[in-house]
Amino acid sequence: MISAARITGTGSYLPEKILTNKEMEQFLDTSDDWIYSRSGIRQRHIAAEGEFTCDLAEVAAREAIKSAGRRETDIDLIVVATTTADQVFPSTACLLQNRLGIHGCPAFDVQAVCAGFLYAMDVAYRYISTGASRCALVVGAETFSRILNWEDRSTCVLFGDGAGAVLVEAADTPGILSSHIHADGTYKDLLCVPVGVSTAYQQLLNGEAYTEMQGKEVFRWAVSALGDAVVEVLESNGIHQSEIDWLVPHQANIRIIKAIAKRLELSMDRVVVTIDQHGNTSAASVPLAFDVAVRDGRIKTGDKVIFEAFGGGFTWGSMLVQI
Ligand code: ACO
Repeated sequence: MISAARITGTGSYLPEKILTNKEMEQFLDTSDDWIYSRSGIRQRHIAAEGEFTCDLAEVAAREAIKSAGRRETDIDLIVVATTTADQVFPSTACLLQNRLGIHGCPAFDVQAVCAGFLYAMDVAYRYISTGASRCALVVGAETFSRILNWEDRSTCVLFGDGAGAVLVEAADTPGILSSHIHADGTYKDLLCVPVGVSTAYQQLLNGEAYTEMQGKEVFRWAVSALGDAVVEVLESNGIHQSEIDWLVPHQANIRIIKAIAKRLELSMDRVVVTIDQHGNTSAASVPLAFDVAVRDGRIKTGDKVIFEAFGGGFTWGSMLVQI
C-alpha cells in the first residue's frame, strides 16, 4: 500500500417534496400501518419534475467538498454510484465533473444498485491505496422514483430519491481499514428492472422500465449475505464486534437492519437509522445516513464505523472505517 485513505468530508441532499405513507393511501391499496410494520418506512422524498440525479449529486458533492475544507479543483477522481443516470451517456460522473468545473481527472459511474456506494468506495479506496489518486469524490445518487411502477404496491412504497457524498483523501494514518465487495448474478431475476437500452428500448422511451422484486427471497438473502459481510469485515481486521462504535447499514428494511445489529450484538442506539424518513434510496442510502449522523454529532472523530449494503445483482459489501 502506498497511501492510507481517510474520509475527510460528507454531504447529502434530499428533494424538497415529501410523500408520506398516509398520502400513498389516497392512490394505492395500502396503509401506513402495513408499510411501517413491514419496512419501517413512514415517508420518502421524491424528485420534482425536471430534477435529475445529477442535480441531487451536485448539492451533496458541494457539501462534502466544503465540509472537507477543499476546493473542487483539488479533486482528482470522481466515482458516482447510480442506477438512475441522467442520460445513457455521458456518465453522471462526467456531467457532475462539468458542473463542478473540474477538468481532466477520471470520472465514471458504478452500477451495483443498492450496493453501489460500497462499490464506489472500494474503487476510491484502491485508487488512493495505490497512489493513483489523492482526493476522490464518491457520490451515491438516485432518482429511484423514476423506475417504479406506482401501481405496484409491493415495490413502490419502499423507495425514495436522494444523494449522499464523501471526500476520500490520501492520509498518513488509515481511515478506511478494509473493504469487501461481492456479487452473484445467479439471482439476477429476483430483483431487477428487466428492460434496458439493448433489450427493449421502446419500453424505456415509454417510461415502462420498472423495478421488480421477489420480496421474501430478497429479504432472506439480504439477511444472510449482510450477516456474512459484517463477520468478514470484523475477521479481516481481527477485531471484536464490541469495538464497533456505529453501524451505518443500507436502509432497505428495518427488520433487515435489526437482524444485522443482532448478529453484531450491537444495540440499536449504535445503529444509524434513516429509513423511516428516507425509505430506500438505493446507492444514496448509506452516504445519506452517514452524513446525517456525522452532522448531528453522533459519529465522531476516532469512531469505528461499519458500512454495509445489499442490492440487485445480487451485489453486497461491507467496509470498516475509522473516522
Ligand atoms: N400494502 C398492503 N399490502 C401489501 C403491500 C402494500 N404496500 N405490498 C404487499 N402487500 C400484501 C401482499 O400482496 C401480500 O398479500 P397476500 O398475503 O394476500 O398475498 C401480503 O401483503 C404479504 O406480502 P409479503 O411479500 O409476504 O410481505 P413481507 O412481510 O415479505 O414484506 C417486503 C414485503 C417489505 C418487500 C419485504 O419482503 C422486504 O423488505 N424485502 C427485501 C427488500 C430489500 O431488501 N431489497 C434490497 C435492496 S433493494 C435494491 O437493490 C434495488
